[in-house]
Amino acid sequence: MRVGFVGFGYWGPNILRNLDRLASADVVVACDLNPSNLVKLQAAYPHIETTGDLDRMLSDYELDAVVVASSAPSHAAIASKVLEAGKHCFVEKPLTLASADAKRLVDLAAQHDRVLMVGHLMVYHAAIEWIRGYIESGELGEVRYLYFQRLNLGKVRADENSFWSLAPHDVSVALYLLGEAPDSVSASGADYLRDGVHDVVFANLHFPSGRMANIHVSWLDPHKVRRMTVVGSKKMLVFDDMEATDKIWIYDKGVEPADAMAYGEDLTLRFGDIRVPYVKLSEPLAAEMGHFVECCRTGATPRSSGIDGLRTVQVLEATDASLVANGAPVAMEVDER
Ligand SMILES: NC(=O)c1ccc[n+]([C@@H]2O[C@H](COP(=O)([O-])OP(=O)(O)OC[C@H]3O[C@@H](n4cnc5c(N)ncnc54)[C@H](O)[C@@H]3O)[C@@H](O)[C@H]2O)c1
Repeated sequence: MRVGFVGFGYWGPNILRNLDRLASADVVVACDLNPSNLVKLQAAYPHIETTGDLDRMLSDYELDAVVVASSAPSHAAIASKVLEAGKHCFVEKPLTLASADAKRLVDLAAQHDRVLMVGHLMVYHAAIEWIRGYIESGELGEVRYLYFQRLNLGKVRADENSFWSLAPHDVSVALYLLGEAPDSVSASGADYLRDGVHDVVFANLHFPSGRMANIHVSWLDPHKVRRMTVVGSKKMLVFDDMEATDKIWIYDKGVEPADAMAYGEDLTLRFGDIRVPYVKLSEPLAAEMGHFVECCRTGATPRSSGIDGLRTVQVLEATDASLVANGAPVAMEVDER
């Protein structure tokens, strides 16, 4: 498969490293508007041609697919060109900055019968895959609610708030694990460093099933935290992505109806063992790129499809709307895609 690549900035080199290693794909050309980034790319990958001209890349290289890791404001225009040229397209998160553009991309991919995949990296994390299987097995019981914390000091951005920068990962995992999209979002936060750019956000996603996900992101925090807690009716689970190996902790804890003999109490707390399951870890980006190439080859729908990208952008938009409305719940648009 002949693949083109766009956007060799901060994140792009990580993607290209994994893409270029795949035996099933040949990266033949790369495009970036910044000539100095193309010089760096050429030095690291002498076998890849470089250009600053996307149109020429799409017309001259007989590409099957293009991987886009340029900055978010450019995603909609670049991905439209790629799909209109009849190529499969991978786009880094967030898919676009507006849901209207994301819808257009989903429609373009369908019209041209091409794969559209978004870089929701966490759904390719072996631990998240393990947790999804664990939830499906019923061991955790019914998922009641979950919450995410993604906190650090920096990287402070000017062109997007902390929720757009950090939360696409958590939103995509919430939707992936729960298998449904929220019907409303409410959020509060604060912009301490730059007017109108929220440094810290607490968002509540409410789902049609009644379940709830809370997402707390900040780039103004003393701790580096990347954690998810899932509270089930039988057990509780913590995923700590800052742990090197022991990332999943399962707590056999809960609250149950008291037995008839318990005097004066109608609920009993249950405390049991803590289990740390062994999960074979691998680089999520390698899995993500391998999955994209495989979907292009087979025509399968990606685990993080254009529609998943659209749903996540809709949550990000609803969060912005709620922040502006001082935390009032914002109903999510329901479409039948
Ligand atoms: N999955 C993750 O964990 C993760 C982490 C960081 C960034 N990202 C995403 O990766 C993308 C890139 O982020 P970044 O931090 O590397 O940005 P960046 O600004 O460092 O790099 C973007 C690159 O794209 C190039 N570019 C911009 N517009 C272009 C265009 N129209 N045509 C060709 N090249 C163009 C720029 O010259 C630059 O080299 C963003 O969507 C970001 O959200 C994902």
